[in-house]
Amino acid sequence: MDHFLYKDGALCAEDVPISEIAASVGTPFYVYSTATLTRHFRLFDDALSWGPHLVCYAMKAASNQAILKTLAEAGAGMDVVSEGEYLRAKAAGVSGDKIVFSGVGKTAAEIRTALTGGIRQFNVESEPEMHVLSAVATELGVEAPITIRVNPDVDAKTHAKIATGKSENKFGIPIARARDVYAMAASLPGLKVVGIDVHIGSQLTDLEPFELAYQKVAELTEVLRADGHDIIRLDLGGGLGIPYARSNEAPPTPTDYGALIQRTVGHLGCEIEIEPGRLIAGNAGLLVSSVIYVKSGEGRDFLILDAAMNDLIRPAMYEAWHDIVPVVEPKAGAEQTQYDIVGPVCESGDTFAKERMMPRVASGDLVAFRTAGAYGAVMSSEYNTRPLIPEVLVHEDQFAVIRARPTFDEIINRDTIPSWL
Ligand code: LLP
Repeated sequence: MDHFLYKDGALCAEDVPISEIAASVGTPFYVYSTATLTRHFRLFDDALSWGPHLVCYAMKAASNQAILKTLAEAGAGMDVVSEGEYLRAKAAGVSGDKIVFSGVGKTAAEIRTALTGGIRQFNVESEPEMHVLSAVATELGVEAPITIRVNPDVDAKTHAKIATGKSENKFGIPIARARDVYAMAASLPGLKVVGIDVHIGSQLTDLEPFELAYQKVAELTEVLRADGHDIIRLDLGGGLGIPYARSNEAPPTPTDYGALIQRTVGHLGCEIEIEPGRLIAGNAGLLVSSVIYVKSGEGRDFLILDAAMNDLIRPAMYEAWHDIVPVVEPKAGAEQTQYDIVGPVCESGDTFAKERMMPRVASGDLVAFRTAGAYGAVMSSEYNTRPLIPEVLVHEDQFAVIRARPTFDEIINRDTIPSWL
């Protein structure tokens, strides 16, 4: 459920008409709903209320500081995957003891920043990383809390580009080698083993892969405890999927997911951490765009929008579906027509949807991409020297620009010309 509904014929974000925001900031732009963000966080928080837990929002999904602050104030921790994300979370007021550091290629410099600024734990992904972490922690005279990310060799049954839990993926340590790697961790200075980490992929719409992975984690917990390791936390990753096409999908809910976690690992008495990104931010954001032209092609009509693949890469990159709706509510029974919906960028990959049925729209009309809050703004670029588009946050009847559109001068003046030119 989200808070983007038609009211009196106009699509609104909470109590603010989208057209009002468009008139103020211009299109295209992203708009997020505070109520939806916090609602989704609370669903996870409540689903784990049977035991000690921390919901660490995977901020890679949408990392504007206003979003982080909204979630942190509701009680969220953060999952970060780079020094930049770590510093951004800190800048938004998140304390180090609520930040977990994931990622397959943490550098010594990134590790040093997190150890100096405070960190809840590192989710270590390889032996070489463990050695670097041990060396940096020893040099700083501190102890680094760690989990080790295990790769359970489970098929997440999702898009190949976002599956991470099979043995051929670059992530984690093969679960069969886990005992040796934990023994190594226990022998190295500067490290303190606190738990196990697993993350098998993103946009999972079936609980079974989670169940298989978490059962393996439960077995491993017993084995590692018998080996003498103090396993007090389980970080179970993110990945719960969301409905992109409202008409026909009903993926499992956070409540179902929380019950599954309780069933598979609840008996172990560990503190549970999860790292959801998409489910918290996805339905909490729209991409709003204007129709530039409706162009008649050979046997098809193209809807040419002012948003493009550089603003929302998901359709080009993952063949992803986003519902695209007019901002003025279509009349009941309004005629539907078929469009190829595209952006102005100079490649055919800049296509949001092919042969999409939707109500007829005209040049100048506003349309909204639903479910664009996660992996939207964060994956955008300035390809074709198109400015990064503004982000707007709505709270009840108020809205604020939380990232302004840069001017062309700001973009162009970032280049420097070498002395020989
Ligand atoms: N934890 C780790 C270690 C991850 O790698 C990810 C996502 C998450 C948590 C959060 O997963 P979520 O709950 O959001 O599914 N750009 C792609 C998605 C990439 C996901 C990468 N890792 C997309 O637009 O579909």
